[in-house]
Amino acid sequence: MAMRARFPRAFPAVLLILALCSIASAADAPKIVSQNGRFAFMVDGRPYLILGAQINNSSAWPSVLPKVWPSLEDMHANTVEAPVYWEQIEPQPGKFDFTNVDDLLQQARQHHLHLVVLWFGTWKNGQMHYAPTWVKTDPARYPRMINSHGEPIDVLSANSVANRDADKVAFVALTRHLQSVDGSQHTILLIQVENESGAIGTVRDYSALANQQFAKQVPSELTAGLHKKPGTWTQVFGPDADEAFQAWYQARYINDIVTAGKAQFNVPMYVNVWVSYPAAELPERRVTVPGINYPSGGAVQKMIDLWKVAAPAIDMIGPDIYTDDSGFYRELLRTYARPDNPLWIPETGSGDSFAKFFFYALGKGAIGFSPFGIDRTGWTFTDGTGPKAHTENYALIAPMDSQIALLNFEGKLKTAVEEPGKAQQELDFGQWQATISFGFPQPDGRRPPGTPDFHGRALVAQLGPNEFLVTGIDARVSFHLPSRLAGQRMNILQAVQGTYVDGKWEPLRIWNGDQTDRGLNFKHGGEVIHVSLAKF
Ligand code: DGJ
Repeated sequence: MAMRARFPRAFPAVLLILALCSIASAADAPKIVSQNGRFAFMVDGRPYLILGAQINNSSAWPSVLPKVWPSLEDMHANTVEAPVYWEQIEPQPGKFDFTNVDDLLQQARQHHLHLVVLWFGTWKNGQMHYAPTWVKTDPARYPRMINSHGEPIDVLSANSVANRDADKVAFVALTRHLQSVDGSQHTILLIQVENESGAIGTVRDYSALANQQFAKQVPSELTAGLHKKPGTWTQVFGPDADEAFQAWYQARYINDIVTAGKAQFNVPMYVNVWVSYPAAELPERRVTVPGINYPSGGAVQKMIDLWKVAAPAIDMIGPDIYTDDSGFYRELLRTYARPDNPLWIPETGSGDSFAKFFFYALGKGAIGFSPFGIDRTGWTFTDGTGPKAHTENYALIAPMDSQIALLNFEGKLKTAVEEPGKAQQELDFGQWQATISFGFPQPDGRRPPGTPDFHGRALVAQLGPNEFLVTGIDARVSFHLPSRLAGQRMNILQAVQGTYVDGKWEPLRIWNGDQTDRGLNFKHGGEVIHVSLAKF
């Protein structure tokens, strides 16, 4: 109480904006807004940062769900990503069973979590494994893709209207149901439509129908949208013609399903992508081949532009990132963070080496992040433990998730992440600069040692002309004036550790002495500091 009384007007601008946001549109459905190329995901009128966690593929069953929730709670996630299976909701054509979905929704609410619904329909990891048996057993009606040898493969054809319409009927029934059970509550934030769509086994469909379509001109809508000259697929796309053809029909197929689903239940909808990874060192894998190394037709790096033209109803294209190669991870963040595409990582590795990428994603303005397979059901974590470093991140950010989302939307947030040989980094806020040094001890005049596995991370956000929110893990943050060292003609007026409770900053103590010597020193305490600086 004493601390609270002493800081009654701390950083009012952010609080005021948050208050106005929440009064303005408390009844609105979740939506993505953009401003100056930056994005905010508005939920119940407030910017929302998805601290997501995806459960394993076979975990969204009533018999398994009770084991799922403790893992999510321990992790400090605010959102669960969970699949809805076509084969389960439509066991007979037109006969729907939403008991699993209702159970999932109910239990997510009981555990105070938001929900991202993953529609496992026509595609799952570039195959058709979640299609109901009545689809799988009737290839004459629901055609498979045909490979270049004329053989059917384990993937439904994206060129088939019957396939699309069968999926659409199910998705419309699902979304109509979701509207009836969640239309006014907004537990469900997003729907992922299909899962890592595409074809494993062929670069495109070589069925008679698809071959006829391939021989035609590229639709003018696509050539115009890509600013290309008209021509056949081969003329327009050259060596990428087969993949572009597959991507177009697939993106149109999903766009149609999304459009029909949004007419029922208007939440943002996205697709996730099995990305194209760099060719491995092994000689036989030096070439990255669509349909072999990744599902052909998905919104991989070089197909994003095409997907944006083909599927305007899709709100986001999110990369699933399963490499902890930092250079490649960052390249993917740069590729998918576009003025027409909010950055959203719907899946990433749950291991500790992936945790620092959360900070990179925040630094690129991400609206959310979600490690995969986090439930302790003996699959990912066989020793009964859960993610450690991701938990540390979420525990730090969860109490202020909305503030972080807002500061990011306003372009006031920067992050620094340790890399080999980069134990010291600078963040530039114009009149103030911050030097971030990773690892301890850091004796005077010596280079910071860094951490043994380069896991240091820090976040700094500007709250006012001389005020910053600062946090980090194994990091020292020292502010200084441009072209001066820390401590020259400036000092810390006050460094207040606190926490956010219901969006309101609650001071806990003043940091000083060892905690602020040579900078704000963050180890693994999960502390958040509001620091005010002065020049003299
Ligand atoms: C990516 C898929 O999208 C997930 O459903 C799951 O299969 C993971 N791969 C497994 O690593």
